Amino acid sequence: ALVSMNAFLPQAKKEGFAVGQFNINNLEYVQAIVAAGKELNSPLIFGASEGAIRYMGLKNVVALSKIAAEESGLPIALHLDHGSSFEVVMQCIREGFSSVMFDGSHYPLEENIRLTQKVVEAAHAIGVSVEGELGTIGGVEDDLDVADEDATLANAKDAIRFWQETQVDAMAIAVGTAHGIYKGEPKIRFDIIEEVANAIDAPIVLHGGSGVPDEAIRKSITRGVGKINVNTENQVTSTKLVRELLTSNHEMIDPRKYLGPARDAIKETVKEKIRLFGSEGKA
Ligand code: G3H
Ligand code: ZN
Repeated sequence: ALVSMNAFLPQAKKEGFAVGQFNINNLEYVQAIVAAGKELNSPLIFGASEGAIRYMGLKNVVALSKIAAEESGLPIALHLDHGSSFEVVMQCIREGFSSVMFDGSHYPLEENIRLTQKVVEAAHAIGVSVEGELGTIGGVEDDLDVADEDATLANAKDAIRFWQETQVDAMAIAVGTAHGIYKGEPKIRFDIIEEVANAIDAPIVLHGGSGVPDEAIRKSITRGVGKINVNTENQVTSTKLVRELLTSNHEMIDPRKYLGPARDAIKETVKEKIRLFGSEGKA
């Protein structure tokens, strides 16, 4: 069965490792991520964005995730990524999500706290974990598109207050990473991560985990990051392969011939991340 993130995040924070949220986009993503987790015996978080849910179908997302959890025996959380409203969050919970993110980061602080509290109250009553967000993460992901100049870092004091008043299980704060492909190297504010992580029980979530140098990832985990979101890097590695295969084999028409190798590429990328995040052997 799917588990809440509280099945592994408290341990991650205590022992100083991070669990990857790998976004799912189709069947091959689910298969690849779970195969990587199985090989390395790692807990997993399937991230499903509203865009991915529209694409795959809500019931398919839940069914595929449940089967992956059952067959692998791994602790797997099915987590709504960047949930935009109370209604969407509740719909996902009703269908079987074990974890949700409510992204109220575009609201003023008071309103974000109030709306997140409402989500936490409903979710915690039935054992579903909640991630909240403060500050705006730049870049593009599905429905979210934030220009670099509009990306604002989280204020540490506000983040601590946000956690105290909402009791979210994972705290996403904007610390300099961005969604999508980086133009330059991200400048991560490790000091903000450290200040907030030291003051709250929940681990910090790092969004935009693709393309962040390994050393910066390690450092962020040391300072208190316990969950790292990765989507773009899997898309880049798998799509590159499909493009090469289709370009050099004009007679290739069987989807299994190009989606199979794409799936292997995702699996390898996820394995690298699991090792880097330190969650290998923690299932
Ligand atoms: O919420 C999902 C992540 O933050 C993914 O970011 O596509 O840059 O890896 P990424
Ligand atoms: Zn994100």
